[in-house]
Order: sequence, then structure tokens, then C-alpha cells
Amino acid sequence: MRTLLVTGGSGFIGSNFILYWMTRYPGDKIINLDKLTYAGNPENLSRIEDNPDYRFVKGDICDGKLVSSVIEGVDIVVHFAAESHVDRSILDPAPFIKTNIEGTYVLLEAARQNNVKRFHHISTDEVFGALPLDSELKFTPDTPYDPRSPYSASKASSDHLVRSYHTTYGLPVTISNCSNNFGPYQFPEKLIPLAITNLMEDKNIPVYGDGLYVRDWLYVEDHCQAIDLILEKGRVGETYLVGGLTEDIPNIEIIKKIVRVMGKDENRIEFVKDRPGHDRRYAIDWSGINRELGWKPEHDFEEALAKTIRWYQENEGWWRNVKSGEYQKYYQKQYQG
Ligand SMILES: NC(=O)c1ccc[n+]([C@@H]2O[C@H](COP(=O)([O-])OP(=O)(O)OC[C@H]3O[C@@H](n4cnc5c(N)ncnc54)[C@H](O)[C@@H]3O)[C@@H](O)[C@H]2O)c1
Repeated sequence: MRTLLVTGGSGFIGSNFILYWMTRYPGDKIINLDKLTYAGNPENLSRIEDNPDYRFVKGDICDGKLVSSVIEGVDIVVHFAAESHVDRSILDPAPFIKTNIEGTYVLLEAARQNNVKRFHHISTDEVFGALPLDSELKFTPDTPYDPRSPYSASKASSDHLVRSYHTTYGLPVTISNCSNNFGPYQFPEKLIPLAITNLMEDKNIPVYGDGLYVRDWLYVEDHCQAIDLILEKGRVGETYLVGGLTEDIPNIEIIKKIVRVMGKDENRIEFVKDRPGHDRRYAIDWSGINRELGWKPEHDFEEALAKTIRWYQENEGWWRNVKSGEYQKYYQKQYQG
């Protein structure tokens, strides 16, 4: 039996991870420390909230006193909590600096004081900057960091801090830099759920600039499996690059696929003013984790996309609550009487 402290467990990837872990390792205890920002939705975990092995703590990872008390007796920290949306970081970088950098520092300090057995830090491929379109280049563990938005700069900074705690204090850390995730419970401000839910609402889908931006896409369950393997067999101090099976699909093609699968009209696509400093292309070389730990993504992109579309169609109440802000009332009703 292990005790995990999962930060940001009420967000998109964190809640998928908790559901994955509790199914796979019944008997392990999970503490979910989440501030419930606009992106945190405890409804994602409503089906396990009465499980005695699950405990939810509403709080900020920047709160040193709280973190020190919550981390007592914890074996493994899996650190998802972050401000995660590039557009928001352009509008207001302050919470990104606070949570992503200072919050990570507070957790590292507490982990060091409490001799946790593993601190796993969830990071992004965006720390590596951008690659040119029409090139074969991919991010590798040797690619120099070149973050270009306040979001990616704050994540890059947190990665450096995590590595420094390993080198300086011997904290047993691992890091994963992952590409774009998609799947159930993703906040509908991100490309794929925004497109699906807008089409369901008969609204247009906004596409930045010329739409020729390329991302690497990974189904969230594959990401959870990668984290599981890294925790089980990963080498302490190591960074693992995690990515999907897509080969350079521009955003506009992804939107067109969604339109087709949902039987809608392409005239719903609306090109809008580009994001400042928009990174052209990300591509990730995940052969390292494949060679070392035997991980590879299990989900074909087309199938996983269709599955994700079905999930949003079958869980209309969930995303309508999120879009309307109603979901915030859930916490108040559920946890504050
Ligand atoms: N979504 C992706 O495609 C992607 C890809 C690679 C890496 N990542 C990384 O994975 C992690 C999770 O991403 P996500 O998409 O699930 O994000 P998300 O925005 O859906 O969830 C973030 C969670 O963190 C919580 N949180 C924010 N600030 C907090 C604070 N100060 N204290 C405690 N909790 C706080 C929020 O309430 C929310 O529940 C992030 O670190 C992100 O950088 C995401």
C-alpha cells in the first residue's frame, strides 16, 4: 500500500490519472490537493469521492504550511497542479509565475523535508520552443530549452527547479515532458473539446491564424500509463519525453476531422486573429521511453478522437455545467454544506 499526493487532481489530466490509478491499484491511498481554480472540477471525481482510500484537500500548493501537513506520510508526489492555458498566460502571467514556479518550489521543499520516495513532475513539450513547419526535426531530451510564452517559461523554470533538487539535495525526482493531451474531462477552452462542444451548440469554431499549426497529440490514458511506468521503473533524476502517434496534422485538419465525424458543415470554421508568438510546430521523439521502459501509445489518433467526441456527446451535462460556470456550485454544494 502506497500513499500518493496528487496535486491538481481535479483538473483534466490529474482526474484521469486518479481514476486510472484507483482502478489499477486498489488499496493505494490518494490525497488530491487542488485549489479548484476555474480549471479544477471535483465533479470529475464524483464517482470516487466516498472511497475511503481517496481524500480531497482544497488548497493552494503555494501554501507551505498546508503542503507540509498534507505531505506527511506520503510516499509519492505526482505534481500536475499548474496554470495550463497559454492564452491565459498571455493575458495575465502572474498566476503562472506564482503557481507553476513558486508552487513547485514549495512542494519540492516539503518533499525534501519529508523524505518522499519519489517526486514526479508533469511538464510539457512547450518548454522546447517551436520547430519549423515542413521539417523532420523533433524534440529530444537534448533539445535546449527555448520557451516562448509565459506559460512555457514558467513550466521550464519549474523543470529546472525540480532537477536542481535532485542534483543539490538528492531528492528522488523524475520528470515527463508530454505533448498535447486530449480525452474526457478536458476543459472546453482547449482546441478539441472547444470544437466538439461549439459544434454541439451550433456555434462557430474559432481557429487561430491560418490554422497551419502542428501539435503532437496523445490520448490522456496513454499519458497516465506512461506516468505509471515511470513511477514503477523510471530512473531517478531522469527526464522522459512522452508523445503520441500523430504525424504532423495541422490544427485545421483536426478541426475538419471533428466536423466530419460529427456530421456538421465546414462553414462552422471561423479563422480568427492569431495568438501572439504562436509556436508553429511541436513534434516529440519518444523513442527514449520506448527503448528504456517499453512504453508506447496504445491509442490510434482517429479512434481516440472518435471516442473523445462520443464522450462529450454522452456527457453533455458535464461540459454544459463547465461552460456556464455551474460546475463551481458543485463544490460549494458538495463540500461546504
Ligand atoms: N493538457 C495538456 O495537453 C498538457 C500537456 C503536457 C503537460 N501538461 C501539464 O500537465 C499538468 C496538468 O494539465 P491539465 O491540462 O490537466 O491542467 P488543468 O488546467 O486542466 O488542471 C490544473 C489543475 O491544477 C489546479 N491548480 C491550479 N493552480 C493550483 C494551485 N496553486 N494549487 C493547487 N491546485 C492548483 C487546478 O484547480 C486544476 O484542477 C500541468 O502541469 C500541465 O502543464 C498538460
